[in-house]
Amino acid sequence: SQNIYILGIESSCDDTAASVIHNGKILSNIVANQKIHEAYGGVVPELASRAHQQNIVPVVHQAIKQAGITKEDLNAVSFTRGPGLMGSLLVGTSFAKSLAYGLSIPLIDVNHMQAHILAHYIDEDGFKKPPFPFLAMTISGGHTQIVKVNHYFDMKVIGETIDDAVGEAFDKSGKILGLGYPAGPEIDKRAKQGNPQAFKFTKPKVDGLNFSFSGLKTAILYFVQRETKTNPNFIKENLNDICASIQYTIIGILIDKLKKASKETGIKHVAIGGGVSANSGIRQALKVGEQKFGWTTYIPKFEYTTDNAAMIAIVGYLKYLEGYSTEQNIIASARLKI
Ligand code: KG4
Ligand code: ZN
Repeated sequence: SQNIYILGIESSCDDTAASVIHNGKILSNIVANQKIHEAYGGVVPELASRAHQQNIVPVVHQAIKQAGITKEDLNAVSFTRGPGLMGSLLVGTSFAKSLAYGLSIPLIDVNHMQAHILAHYIDEDGFKKPPFPFLAMTISGGHTQIVKVNHYFDMKVIGETIDDAVGEAFDKSGKILGLGYPAGPEIDKRAKQGNPQAFKFTKPKVDGLNFSFSGLKTAILYFVQRETKTNPNFIKENLNDICASIQYTIIGILIDKLKKASKETGIKHVAIGGGVSANSGIRQALKVGEQKFGWTTYIPKFEYTTDNAAMIAIVGYLKYLEGYSTEQNIIASARLKI
């Protein structure tokens, strides 16, 4: 039987991450979060690449150590080629190349968006793997996509945002309300204690399966400005209701398109990933989908939904099994497509 160890390296945005996978099982999953961006209310690219530079060696070292192996045990090095911030991608790409070269083992490039989806194929007790074909919705601070997945490396984007990502919609709404960054988790927490019907926000009209969130952010800004003019304490007095109403609107936008995608493709296996999949509203809406539309839904373990290297390692493993490797002259690609 096989005994394959693959290292995964992720550095596309503001998390420096490394993971070792043994066959399909994750042995280590290390993430160094960059606290520095909180003060700016968003990721500052220049600061992100500098922090990756600082973190990459300790994070990889830690991942190999925690896996209980040495670097000589590795069969291949996989890394995020894109999409993402160029300065951030370059750090992981260059390091992965050097390590694979030094160890004389295969180098495997991974598409970050495919990885969010293939994270569902990590062996994890209590988590089921979606059968092909399935619909994957990736929702985070950087992405909002619906993908039809025919097989591991045969997938097609059938809908995506034309402006802000859904996580940005949460974070920017939170900023208007004076909440800290990222605001998604707090909006979620407050939404549970608020009335989702208290305030109405119109949903954008966008063709097909695409999304738009920038109009909603502006609508919330004008609404808050209008209300605080007559009542300076409006936000404070209604914060939970405002959060519940915003969340209700955002989840409604996501679910409308997911329903449409399921109807158009006839696919009832629905898998979600990305940081926003932690949201209690989307989880509840998926349960409703199971009862109302006969969906089977899939959500990976939390640490495999946010940006992580375990998802890079599983893709590295799947590609390795196919005998795939790439050349040392490969370059990072900020706008890499699925
Ligand atoms: O995947 P992730 O950790 O990083 C990337 O953006 O790639 O996702 C972070 C995003 C942030 O926008 C954050 O506000 C949002 O996910 N988020 C949530 C929740 N937890 C995280 N949004 C709504 N509800 C949550 N519970
Ligand atoms: Zn991501």
